[in-house]
Amino acid sequence: GRRVTVRDIAAARERGERWPMVTAYDAMTARVFDQAGIPVLLVGDSAAMVVYGYDSTIPVSVDDLLPLAAAVVRGSSRALVVADLPFGSYQSSPQQALESAARFMKEAGVHAIKVEGGRRILPQVETLVSAGIPVMAHLGLTPQSVNVFGGYRVQGRGEAGDELMADAKALEHAGAFSVVLECVPAELAERVTASLSIPTIGIGAGPGTDAQVLVWQDLMGLTPHPAKFVKKYADLATEMDRAVRDFAAEVTTGAFPTPEHSYR
Ligand code: KIV
Ligand code: NA
Repeated sequence: GRRVTVRDIAAARERGERWPMVTAYDAMTARVFDQAGIPVLLVGDSAAMVVYGYDSTIPVSVDDLLPLAAAVVRGSSRALVVADLPFGSYQSSPQQALESAARFMKEAGVHAIKVEGGRRILPQVETLVSAGIPVMAHLGLTPQSVNVFGGYRVQGRGEAGDELMADAKALEHAGAFSVVLECVPAELAERVTASLSIPTIGIGAGPGTDAQVLVWQDLMGLTPHPAKFVKKYADLATEMDRAVRDFAAEVTTGAFPTPEHSYR
């Protein structure tokens, strides 16, 4: 089978179908999610936290994310792979955005790029789109701006909702193929979704968006203190703790390995 394309994403919106997106940062998890039929995999700059151990997305660079993106592309065969442009790799100019995005396309083989922000980054979005790069936009709680927000809190309440709506319309007009809405009131996300013809992808944005995205370590129960919007579909932290303790105990007692796991 062939890869999902941005045309398939647009067609799903026309049919009114909802779809899931998850993050991936390595080949093995990408393969599991790909074979489960997840149509879009995001190599998020959330890798800063879940892969690299930083406490925000600010510190990661293009060089940090490129090998992860390449691994996700190699590990998948059907999903559309989207990579985040990290903080500082696109804000200064459309040229800088194109150079960063081109590295993800050429060196990692991703199929689309995600950038945070609204009207302020329209020149970047337009330049990427005219270069033939599908752009996923990201509004609401944009974590690269955490120092302006003063923490990770709900965005778009009250009059800020009108600003977000205007940003969303401008991004659609500039050619973005989809827009992530993070941590915004459900009612606003529903209105934005109704006002756009490109799909909205919610995270902490209620049930009214076209798609939903979660960081895989959040939905699998590896994150110690997940946000309110996270639903835990597995408890991998407990399961991995049990498994590694069992291994340790069997090594200590000599119960592992037995002849069954040895060569003669
Ligand atoms: O970096 C990330 O994982 C993201 C998603 C949460 C949308 O941007
Ligand atoms: Na991100």
